[in-house]
Amino acid sequence: MKAVTAAWERYAEGRTPRRALNAAGASTWLNWTQYPDHGPDESVLGPLSGRRVLELGSGTGCNLAHLATLGAECVGVDISPTQSAKARRRWGHLPGLSFRTAEATEFLAGDSGAFDVVLSIFGPVWFTDPEKFLPLVRAGLSPAGVFAFSHRPPRAGQRPGAALHEARAVARWDHPVEEWVRLLAAAGFGNITGEVVAPPKGKDEGTLLMRAEAA
Ligand SMILES: C[S@@+](CC[C@H](N)C(=O)[O-])C[C@H]1O[C@@H](n2cnc3c(N)ncnc32)[C@H](O)[C@@H]1O
Repeated sequence: MKAVTAAWERYAEGRTPRRALNAAGASTWLNWTQYPDHGPDESVLGPLSGRRVLELGSGTGCNLAHLATLGAECVGVDISPTQSAKARRRWGHLPGLSFRTAEATEFLAGDSGAFDVVLSIFGPVWFTDPEKFLPLVRAGLSPAGVFAFSHRPPRAGQRPGAALHEARAVARWDHPVEEWVRLLAAAGFGNITGEVVAPPKGKDEGTLLMRAEAA
């Protein structure tokens, strides 16, 4: 685990902060995709005001901060102390928002409580063995709780568990939509939907986005 944490620390140090305003002039927003000002918004998650929300791999906290401004009670978990510190520095003033430095599997296996919404954007759902990870997410959800996550879709010929370029100690589960549907169902989720969100004009890679409910 030390090597994985160190890899994500290196990743954190190389990242530039998200800009202050998006194209619409908003200071907070949720972005499921790898492209700015693109793709679906937080409506994927259903109602948010008063809901307990957990983000796994919350990074610098920019997506979760947006959900806190909509009235959700938010907890962000990230393995990287540098990412958590950046998140606290930028968003720590917002009510209903806290950040924890923890490995996502360990956090979920502890007494994390029940969440109404769990999300992960290019986060540990992609970097953790789904057969172990998904049942933990399912157990951390309240009845009818919503789980949604996104990551890059697999490229043709890519094998599951291939090494991540930015953080070489990290394995990655690059599954297509139909395999995620199977894995989510096996972990006890229902109402499962998935798509590859089309890329913006001029780009050829879309974004895989899955949504499921604690059945
Ligand atoms: C590609 S970044 C995405 C960050 C953020 N979700 C975003 O969209 O900007 C992946 C994040 O997941 C965190 N992460 C990776 N594996 C993790 C794990 N097993 N437990 C907790 N956090 C993890 C990394 O430290 C990093 O901040």
